[in-house]
Amino acid sequence: MIPDSSLLLPAFPATDWQPVVDALVAHREVVLHDALPPPCWQALRDEAAQLQAGAAFSAGRIGRAAQTQREEAVRGDALCWLEPHLPVGGAYLAWMEGLRGVLNRELFLGLTEFEAHYAHYPIGSFYKRHVDRHRDSSARVVSVVCYLNEAWPADAGGELVMYGDGRMQDESDGAAPDVHGASVNAHDPGRRDESEDGALGDECGVRTERGDAGERRRTEVARERERYRLRPEGGRLAIFMSEDMPHEVLPATRERWSIAGWFRTRTA
Ligand code: OGA
Ligand code: MN
Repeated sequence: MIPDSSLLLPAFPATDWQPVVDALVAHREVVLHDALPPPCWQALRDEAAQLQAGAAFSAGRIGRAAQTQREEAVRGDALCWLEPHLPVGGAYLAWMEGLRGVLNRELFLGLTEFEAHYAHYPIGSFYKRHVDRHRDSSARVVSVVCYLNEAWPADAGGELVMYGDGRMQDESDGAAPDVHGASVNAHDPGRRDESEDGALGDECGVRTERGDAGERRRTEVARERERYRLRPEGGRLAIFMSEDMPHEVLPATRERWSIAGWFRTRTA
């Protein structure tokens, strides 16, 4: 007998997105540590692995439209876009529609769509520091990364590194605001994963200079300051404004699965 695959599909949670949107307004970014239960993210990862086995993945590219190029010095991931017809990926897209609705209702962002791709980072691959909004387009407004990996050791690399930018400099603790379930603990560093050596922005003191140039330099340094690292643990979501939040994916000693997605407006 052929099993009915719909019976095997895990139900995605009924998530209250309001606290997430509130945290996003306050901090321009938010991390949800257990947004998806294991059956959901494991099913997503299994679907991604199946698609990859069926050669549905292609190399990540940089730039947009006619100008895209393969640039392994910048990013080494392979990706496969989620489509509504995918049994699990389609459910993920539907789940994200809930967040889109609250973002539009609360913030009037006029987000018309959500696009997302599975990403597979082979061992040793990385994505250099970047911002998600393309230089000549404001279409990408909010970024959502969902991680699909089993227990990730602290020494395996592969963290998402978030850098400080000028707008964040009043956030002195350098922690991502966390949302656990329905409660927002904006000042609770929670389970953020810093590098073992905990060296956050140590170079700030060393690189300051005097005068206007020094002032500018300090601003630049603040922008480049590493604020925190997140391990790509299954079920975790990192949500941040696409426009101005520089970030990076470090090389890992194991393969790394995630979904990168963006809420977009329909402007060019
Ligand atoms: C991206 C990205 C982050 C991650 O695909 O643009 O930054 O942790 N991904 O996978
Ligand atoms: Mn990115």
